Amino acid sequence: MFITFEGLDGVGKTTQVELLHNHLNQRHDVLTIKEPGTTEIGNTVREILLQKDKDLETETELFLFLASRSELVSKVIKPSLMQGKIVICDRFNESTIAYQGYGRGIGAYRVYNMCMFATQNITPNIIFYLHAPLEYLIENRFSGKHDRIENSGVSFYKKVQDGYEDWLETLPNVRKIDATQNIEKVSSDIAAYVDEFIANEKRK
Ligand code: TYD
Repeated sequence: MFITFEGLDGVGKTTQVELLHNHLNQRHDVLTIKEPGTTEIGNTVREILLQKDKDLETETELFLFLASRSELVSKVIKPSLMQGKIVICDRFNESTIAYQGYGRGIGAYRVYNMCMFATQNITPNIIFYLHAPLEYLIENRFSGKHDRIENSGVSFYKKVQDGYEDWLETLPNVRKIDATQNIEKVSSDIAAYVDEFIANEKRK
């Protein structure tokens, strides 16, 4: 089973990924992954992508995210799913569609097709989309130290958020979560949803 978490920077994805991991880990074999990163090549690519002083072309940025993901799918995600593990991924294709497709203006469908090629068409069983108004994130969550992508400005984030909304509306397996609620409420909703999904799969 493959679960991904999506949303803008600062929305609390990483905390929720960790809490879901701990919840599932009691009864299942779970692997949690962070994008970009995790593999050796992925970590090297992550460094390039997030360095503040790097002036990357938009296309280069896209290819680097996809290169990292392609490694991750072949070397880690696919083998783990084959072994019956639950794989949780902190960001996946929908991040690239929202950030590069909509945010950088490359185009959602073009990026989607490239993502499908890079990931051998694997799609998550559940996408958790953590959502909060942009103003709320700017006021409460955007951290003091910014990486290259976080330096892209508010208008960029507006495009990314509108892009997420537009794109995810078309997908059947998305669970949108109000991330302004307290951490415990968000995590218990997520855990309950996954438990029910697993129970339904068993009944099939
Ligand atoms: P992330 O590691 O989630 O950020 P942080 O650890 O700082 O919370 O993601 C790093 C940045 O990369 C983030 O701004 C989102 C961006 N990103 C893309 O632009 N495209 C992608 O495909 C992915 C996976 C991330």
